[in-house]
Amino acid sequence: MAVLRVRKYGDPVLRRRALPVGEVTPEVRTLIEDMTETMYDEVGIGLAAPQVGVSLRLVVVGDEAGRGVQALVNPVIIAQGGQVTAEEGCLSIPGVFAPVARAEWVDVEAAGADGGPVRIRARDLRARVLQHEMDHLDGVLFIDRLDPVTRDRIKRKIKKEGLREDAPRHAFAL
Ligand code: NI
Repeated sequence: MAVLRVRKYGDPVLRRRALPVGEVTPEVRTLIEDMTETMYDEVGIGLAAPQVGVSLRLVVVGDEAGRGVQALVNPVIIAQGGQVTAEEGCLSIPGVFAPVARAEWVDVEAAGADGGPVRIRARDLRARVLQHEMDHLDGVLFIDRLDPVTRDRIKRKIKKEGLREDAPRHAFAL
């Protein structure tokens, strides 16, 4: 396993719409292992393949019990409901946190690391992590979901001061 370099805001791969995974090959399984190790190294609770420079529809998220990691290949939200606003950050935008409105619960269909079908109903933080990571697959970052005034303020600050690479690690960086 290997810790991969997390791509940061400004890297074009973060803005690309990722392609579906055709088949869970040994290479894809290696990528899942490396993404898992990278997520632990970054103290994140979710990571999407574009964040490590791979434009494929694949995410890893902490599992329900908070002990392991679940890989979701070609995940799709098939139902969602409620709305909840909570602070969010992103491993690709270190040092930036802001409240984001998300669905309170989601139903997600995907394939697992073994290629078999997976169906998840997630609520609260886990639902937030899934929505955030799946946004990455469409080239969407959490700051895109803020009101325009807050978003522009954050963008101006990044432009002026750069990213805080030394930002303290944060449990809600996704
Ligand atoms: Ni993120």
